[in-house]
Amino acid sequence: MMEGQLQQLAASTLARIGEAATPEQLESVRVEVLGRKGTLAQISKDMGKIAAEERARVGKLLNAAKNELEGALDRRQSEFEQAALQARLDKEWIDVTLPAPGVRPGSLHPLTQIQQELEDLFISMGVAVLYGPEVETEYNNFDALNIPPDHPARDMQDTFWLSDGHCLRTHTSPVQVRGMARFGPPLLMIAPGRVFRNEEVDPSHEHTFYQLEGMMVDRNVSIANMLYFMKTLLRHIFKRDVTVRLRPGYFPFVEPGFELDIQCLICGGPGCPVCKQSGWVELLPCGLVHPNVLRMGGIDPDEWSGFAFGLGLTRLVMMRYAIDDIRHLQGGDLRFLRQF
Ligand code: DAH
Repeated sequence: MMEGQLQQLAASTLARIGEAATPEQLESVRVEVLGRKGTLAQISKDMGKIAAEERARVGKLLNAAKNELEGALDRRQSEFEQAALQARLDKEWIDVTLPAPGVRPGSLHPLTQIQQELEDLFISMGVAVLYGPEVETEYNNFDALNIPPDHPARDMQDTFWLSDGHCLRTHTSPVQVRGMARFGPPLLMIAPGRVFRNEEVDPSHEHTFYQLEGMMVDRNVSIANMLYFMKTLLRHIFKRDVTVRLRPGYFPFVEPGFELDIQCLICGGPGCPVCKQSGWVELLPCGLVHPNVLRMGGIDPDEWSGFAFGLGLTRLVMMRYAIDDIRHLQGGDLRFLRQF
């Protein structure tokens, strides 16, 4: 009697295990049949009632049924686990070759671009690229450049003075002083970098801007050498030949000093709004290095001579891209910067 009951139970339970659609359904079958108060437990309790000689045989059957059902439950259980894992794998795969969404590559600031471009050019011409510190001594920024103590450039309005007597460099010219002290003559160097002036900020004035200084010291350096150098530089910057002219200009560290103009690239000479009808655009100051500057740099002006120039990188960028307000350059507005 008990044998038949067992066989039937085993068969129907196996069927239910096979039909279980979810791990929860499977679990409830397990509890109902194999649980502590389940059907099998009940049956084994009832074993006490049957004849002793039959008990061993039924006990074996009971154990066999129990093992078979447990095995089936475990297999079904791991089927569910496998299926769940497979579903996750199907859903969660990623294509590592796809570009990440929403990440925009950055770009170099236009000032950095022009600086690097010019550094490359000068390096190809055999020129040393030097970088001086942004915090300078008063001596390097002024005295050694033949700027006397009563010169208006030292005025509180123009220079950011630090409490220890140093200043933020007002131009890249102090790197000339460092170059002469470090290398002596002959010397061929440029010095790009950031400079600072205590100015009211408006569309054409910033307290922070960029310059590129140049200096050559050798025997018999003349204005002709300077002009050749400038024209090579300008041809590279503007990607065509440019006509230049020199006007006298005063800077304490050069003698004679000049303002170099280029013929207007927009109208080519006759006059237009960009050159204010003059046909010429003021581009950069330059000159032959003042003997006092050479002397203070430890170089004998009777033996050596040189030229120097100061290119306004910020202004150059504005010309190149027709930027009408200097404040855009350091405003940090990504809509502006993404155009470069
Ligand atoms: N240091 C000058 C300035 O910032 C620019 C300058 C003028 C540099 C003439 C030079 C030069 O080397 O020869 O206003």
